[in-house]
Order: sequence, then C-alpha cells, then structure tokens
Amino acid sequence: MQASRPLPWFRGPKLGPFKFRDEANRDITFLEHLGGGVHAEVFRVMIDDSIYALKLFRFVHPTMVIQPNVLRDGTASIEDVINQNDPFHCECRAYGRLKEVGREDLAVHCYGYVLLSRRHEHDLAQLGFTDWDRRDAVKDRPIRGIVKEYIADDGSGPFTFEMLPRMRQDIIDLNRLGIVVWDVRADNYRAGRIVDFSQAHTAPHMELDWNSTAYARSQVMDCCVRDRACFDDMIEEWNENHPDQKFWRRFMPNLAFGQRLRDMTRYRESLYRQEGAKFDAAFYDWEKKRSTSSSPRAVQSPRSDRKTRRERATNGSVSKKRNVRRRGRRRGTANHPG
Ligand SMILES: Nc1ncnc2c1ncn2[C@@H]1O[C@H](COP(=O)(O)OP(=O)(O)O)[C@@H](O)[C@H]1O
Ligand SMILES: [Mg+2]
Repeated sequence: MQASRPLPWFRGPKLGPFKFRDEANRDITFLEHLGGGVHAEVFRVMIDDSIYALKLFRFVHPTMVIQPNVLRDGTASIEDVINQNDPFHCECRAYGRLKEVGREDLAVHCYGYVLLSRRHEHDLAQLGFTDWDRRDAVKDRPIRGIVKEYIADDGSGPFTFEMLPRMRQDIIDLNRLGIVVWDVRADNYRAGRIVDFSQAHTAPHMELDWNSTAYARSQVMDCCVRDRACFDDMIEEWNENHPDQKFWRRFMPNLAFGQRLRDMTRYRESLYRQEGAKFDAAFYDWEKKRSTSSSPRAVQSPRSDRKTRRERATNGSVSKKRNVRRRGRRRGTANHPG
C-alpha cells in the first residue's frame, strides 16, 4: 500500500508520509534493533543512503487504549478512540502539531510516516520480528511506521545535567501547545530530546476537553498536570543517583519532603490542586493555526491570555468534589499499557 494522505484522518493535527526518493521502489534496509516495548519496535534503518530510526507499531485493540467505561457508556466511538489513542496516531498527532507550529526542536526530528510492504515484512521476519498483534479486523492492514532522526547512543545516558533546564522548559512548551507527552521518563529521552510520543494526548483530544462528556473535569486536569509530575519523578531519580549534581527546579511540591513536615496540607492535595499545577494543554486553541516565528522558542501565549486561562481553570476546579489522591496512585492511572 502506498502512503499518500496525512494521518490520522481526524480533526486536529496530522502527519504526512515520508518522501522516498523513488516511490515505486521504497527500499528500507533494517540494520539494527534499537529497542521497543508494548507498542512498537524501533530499528536503525537505511533509506535512500541515509540512516534513520524507524519506529514500527503493533496493532492495539481499542479497549487497550481507553478506560472501559468510556466505550461502554457510548461517550466515545471506537473510531474516536482509535484516532486519538492508537499509539501510531498519538505520534502522528503530536508530531503534526510540532510541525504546524514550527516547534520541531521539542522532540527528536520526525520525517513522516511509512506503510510497510509485504517485502519489508518479509525482511523483518528474517530478523525474527513476526508478531505485530494483528487480529482479524486488521489482518490486511500494513504495518505502520514513523521515520525519525537516529540518535546514536554515545554512552552518556538519555540526558545530562546541563540539559535539564531546557528539558524542563520543553515540557512547559509542549503542554502550552496542547501536547501532553503522558509518558515522561528517562527511557523516552535521547540526548535530552523526547523520542516517544506513543501515548501523547494532543488537543483536540477527549481527555483534554475542558467540557468533556467522557471525562470528569478532575481527570482532564490530572491529564494536564501529568507531565510535570512525571518530570519531577524523573528528577527525583536523577537526584538520588547524582548526589553531587542535584537539580532543584521541581514543578510540584516534593511529596517525600512534605511527609516529614507537621503541616502537610500543601502536599496532601490531589495532583491537579497542588501548587505548580497548570492546565495549559486543555486551553490550546487548536483551530487557530499558529504559524512559525523566526525564533523557534518564541511560541508562548501572551501574558493576558495566560492569566485568563489560569482563572478559568481555577474556577473549574472549585466545583469538583474533593478527591484526595496521592501521587503514587495517580501514576498508576495510565489508560494505556506500557
Ligand atoms: N530516534 C531514536 N534514535 C535512537 N534510538 C531510539 C530512537 N527512538 C527510540 N530509540 C530507542 O528505542 C527505544 C524504544 O523507543 P520508544 O519510542 O520509546 O518505543 P515505545 O513506544 O515502544 O516505548 C528507546 O527507549 C530508545 O532506546
Ligand atoms: Mg518508550
């Protein structure tokens, strides 16, 4: 099958196909397996004399990527779920957004998607990769992949101490662009750049809809805050492993520290009520296409705009029932596996 139109065919951002030099003869040479998990396998490949990382996605069942009640209640259709939550579509939509606003610096570079031919699948099978979780409904569909810049492992780990301030700012910028990465952790960084958007929620998205009928307001707010909390967890781990190079700029109050205090009020709040909680991702105006500025770092909402958002968000939270949850529990609420 030939890739031609941008995907997913759904409202909001889309990703275009990778441009082969010769579309009639789309050669991909698989050189090395780089890693993978529940959603995908990543390979170092050669295409048209250049080296790339190619992420190939398994076929997930819609029930694996949504809370069961959302489908049961009929608040979202299977199409909606697949278009918004299928890991391949999650990556297409996040990269589509970065491209449309000219902020591709916020992640490892992406060159578009590919649909594998039977010949490519045969090559993969020769390397031992045969299991793509195909079920009957998708048995004739091609394996979908995303071509990315290959970042060689230079032995320095997923990031260095010097990269942390910029990585922190990247999270703020991604959220302001209506992207919640969802799975912020060290494994998903290479050279200080995010490589994995397979669970990203990109506006318009039912879990980032402030007036969602499928999700409670508290869930939408938790979704917006999630990257900040996960980034803090990653920093905590870094600090434990690097006692001489501690990074102090957390987003949220430090739970471990708070538990040692007599007055723990600040630390007991559910995540979205904590100091440092921001809901920018739910207020991204996705219909107003934002164009690139000359400086890639200059895409920020005006101060007055930010204030309005914060006020609206705070008003929204007051009406919700108090639902005190600890961070440990919250991290287990992922609606995607892996
Ligand atoms: N662009 C890349 N360059 C080099 N290695 C990569 C790249 N992208 C992913 N990898 C490697 O493959 C692993 C899995 O990729 P990832 O996108 O996180 O897949 P998954 O969604 O299955 O977790 C990463 O942890 C990393 O080691
Ligand atoms: Mg990953």
